[in-house]
Amino acid sequence: MACNATRIKGFADMFPPDSDVFTRMETLARRIFGQCGFVELRTPVLEYTDLFKRSIGEETDVVQKEMFTFPDRKGRMMTMRPEATAGVMRAYIESSLHTRESVSRLFTTGPMFRYERPQKGRMRQFHQINCECLGSDSPYADADLIMMLTRYIRALGLKDVSLKINSLGCSRCRPAFKEALVAYLRDKADGLCEDCARRLETNPLRVLDCKQPGCKELTEGAPRLLEHNCPECRAHFDTVLELLREQGVPFEQDDRLVRGLDYYCRTTFEVVSGSIGAQSAVAGGGRYDGLVKSLGGPDVPGVGFAMGMERVALLLAEQEAPRKDFFLVVLPGDDGEQRRHQGFSLTQRLREAGLSGEMCFSDAGFKSQMRQAGKCNARHCLILGPDEAAQEAVQVKHMDSGEQRLVPMKELAAALEAE
Ligand code: HAM
Repeated sequence: MACNATRIKGFADMFPPDSDVFTRMETLARRIFGQCGFVELRTPVLEYTDLFKRSIGEETDVVQKEMFTFPDRKGRMMTMRPEATAGVMRAYIESSLHTRESVSRLFTTGPMFRYERPQKGRMRQFHQINCECLGSDSPYADADLIMMLTRYIRALGLKDVSLKINSLGCSRCRPAFKEALVAYLRDKADGLCEDCARRLETNPLRVLDCKQPGCKELTEGAPRLLEHNCPECRAHFDTVLELLREQGVPFEQDDRLVRGLDYYCRTTFEVVSGSIGAQSAVAGGGRYDGLVKSLGGPDVPGVGFAMGMERVALLLAEQEAPRKDFFLVVLPGDDGEQRRHQGFSLTQRLREAGLSGEMCFSDAGFKSQMRQAGKCNARHCLILGPDEAAQEAVQVKHMDSGEQRLVPMKELAAALEAE
């Protein structure tokens, strides 16, 4: 039988510039999250299914229909992680980290798996950068995390994104809200979409963020989450908003933002973009105070978020493709091989000096090499012909303006850097 050498639907190979963007995202994350006291935790991609059922929630879409779940050789049910939080909680509990530090700040990056219908910005294997701050129930922890996320987004250069924020209340005030919501929706159930008619019984809050126009309309006059927040939840949320305002972080309060995972309480937030289509959430997170305890650990509160790396890459690709500093064209002909040696040394020296770029190794003609220079999206094309080689210099062509000038090789790094 022939080998099925095709990609699995919803799984991608990643070439530059996407792979470059991923590396940049990870490098920047280590720097900015590190400044805020975060350390990296790497957890397995495979966990027992039960962990996700108990943390994400039996009735969520993720657990109901999106997990890659299968038995191992001994019949134990395993799941490819659909998100990082559950595994981080398990690792936190198993390592008894709370006995060594009162607050733990852990970040994780890597592939996640959800069996969803693939579309732009939605994959079956996708990557997250995930941060969890465990051990503080203070609203300062929520605001600090959101500040870190906004600083990170700014450093990445992401434009046109906005922050939405809401408070889901806690285990004391949310049940009454759920009851009020179900009572309001009960006689409107016929107008809800099939999923929401089911959710009304199993996970009524999710009806609030259904994107179907009919459901949106029916929930227009529904009870408001914030109005049902208990005084403690209200005070917590007010402090988070006040801190964000004081720090000049723009946000939009959205009382339909309920998130798709069951572990949240109090603050929830999402960073959304208007320019990647239906899958607009670039990052999402919130507080999950009962989660560690519900998994058999100590009663430790937490707050965290995850960012979808593919969605960030899409946005950055739309904004601007990364550029190299140079592409070196070596003209073929008499003494071509000698010039190539000279060009090879020059390329290495420029890289040593911190510049990025490539050279052409083949005997391709001038036009063909110039086409390669264009494709490589370099800022400058360096041309090394017989005259230039004799003068230990190159022609530097600025690819945007088309301007060209002769620059001695030994001055080249400084000249390119100065531009
Ligand atoms: P989430 O909202 O399910 O939250 O996912 C976070 C981000 O992952 C989304 O905003 C999106 O950018 C990206 N994402 C999710 N599904 C896909 C997909 N199929 N394809 C591409 N990107 C996707 C969580 O996962 C929580 N664990 C976040 C968290 C951490 N909350 C507290 N701590």
